[in-house]
Amino acid sequence: MNLPTAIRYKAYDKWTPEEIAHIKENMAKSPWHATYHLEPKMGLLNDPNGFSYFDGKFHLFYQNFPFAASHGLKQWVHTTSTDLVHFEETGVELKPDTPLDSHGAYSGSAYQVDDKLFLFYTGNVRDDNWVRTPLQIGAFMNKDGKIEKIKEVLIEPASDATEHFRDPQIFKHEGNFYAIVGAQNHNKQGFIKLYRALDNNVLTWEEIGNLDFAGTGSEYMIECPNLVFVNEQPVLLYSPQGLDKAELAYDNIYPNTYKICQALDTKTAKLIDPSPIFNLDYGFEAYATQAFNMPDGTAYAVSWIGLPDVDYPTDQYDYQGAMSLVKELTIKDGKLYQNPVSAMTSLRQSQEALSNKEKTDNTYELEILIPENSQAELLLFADQDGKGFTITFDTHKGEVVIDRSQVGQQYALEFGTSRSCPIPRQACKARIFIDKSIFEIFLNDGEQVLTGRIFPTAQQSGIQVKSGQITGTYYQLKG
Ligand code: FRU
Repeated sequence: MNLPTAIRYKAYDKWTPEEIAHIKENMAKSPWHATYHLEPKMGLLNDPNGFSYFDGKFHLFYQNFPFAASHGLKQWVHTTSTDLVHFEETGVELKPDTPLDSHGAYSGSAYQVDDKLFLFYTGNVRDDNWVRTPLQIGAFMNKDGKIEKIKEVLIEPASDATEHFRDPQIFKHEGNFYAIVGAQNHNKQGFIKLYRALDNNVLTWEEIGNLDFAGTGSEYMIECPNLVFVNEQPVLLYSPQGLDKAELAYDNIYPNTYKICQALDTKTAKLIDPSPIFNLDYGFEAYATQAFNMPDGTAYAVSWIGLPDVDYPTDQYDYQGAMSLVKELTIKDGKLYQNPVSAMTSLRQSQEALSNKEKTDNTYELEILIPENSQAELLLFADQDGKGFTITFDTHKGEVVIDRSQVGQQYALEFGTSRSCPIPRQACKARIFIDKSIFEIFLNDGEQVLTGRIFPTAQQSGIQVKSGQITGTYYQLKG
């Protein structure tokens, strides 16, 4: 929703208790609230921030503008989890309340340093003429959730970057702290800068250079770059805005992409042997994915189920955006796999063989199989007239197509109502999570993922095998 700047940047303490109560009341009226996905307590949720492990718990913050379904004065909102399935808000927030983050505590990352969690983020600062200065700044959060901001700028704006220079990600490699920052150069091309913490001190950063990942610069900005190690191979996840569709086909307003590499040479700022660029997700919305490595090397990722510059049907209820399930990343035969964490099965309440259902509560999981050399059509969010969200599997051609044109409140129509994804020409397995207005589809043990939203009417909750052979299991999930 496009609101006037004066509203989007109104100081937090200028919002009256009546205004806040009104927003909460309106939010409560939405029929589309997710039950096992994280949604904003108030307003808009965008990027995952500070996803990390510290003090025996997982920490996940989200970018948030609390007062409308709009991108405004952003803060980080803190949640914790012990199983990566249930996330609870702690009441801790990283607020835009200093001259170094006056116009937003923008995206960033977190890593344990001594007995505190170091938060590395972008302070979005604008002057009276609305000219932006992006500052890479930091804070320490202690075990009680008390946040103390660092008073100095940690990384000044880079001279070869425009005002678009943000989203620092800290990671450890061979015992040293490094960071990458997303950027745009003066020719309006995206790039990523690599830094090293001097003497491993996260308060002092030295530029190494622009990360060579064999990018073409066809995008105009790279947001939210993340380097994560999967089976010890560096995988670069990034959101290249404006990427040339000749370089990579995609339909969403902005893609979320990755490259698998063989090694990271920190001396020359080079990723060795990068793969071609791939889509991380083939659905309608998944963006700004953030990943981190556990001390044992396990790689976890989480995505914003939403996109910048898109209006959503929930805007009328003053909120927008949700967080994806947490996905564990692995590499098999040189390919990246994303799978929901194993604890997701703890939400299963009962199971039965898949069969047509006139009605569900749109809170379930399916595990299905489509035989080789066949075509099959599955309808979810189905109504009495046999319309719904169509998933077509063609294991002969090697393609899965999803189509939301016949279901729910339509939106983002200029980007099309269907998406397709290549699959191997063999029997296809799918694991599908439905949560009121969210779907996440994992094909062939996580080889491809399709994520998106459907905003159904109360009548749109059935399941129908429309054609072909689809067998499997329906699990009722605990919301
Ligand atoms: C990506 C992004 C980031 C920025 C944040 C602001 O969605 O634009 O680059 O830090 O959102 O909320």
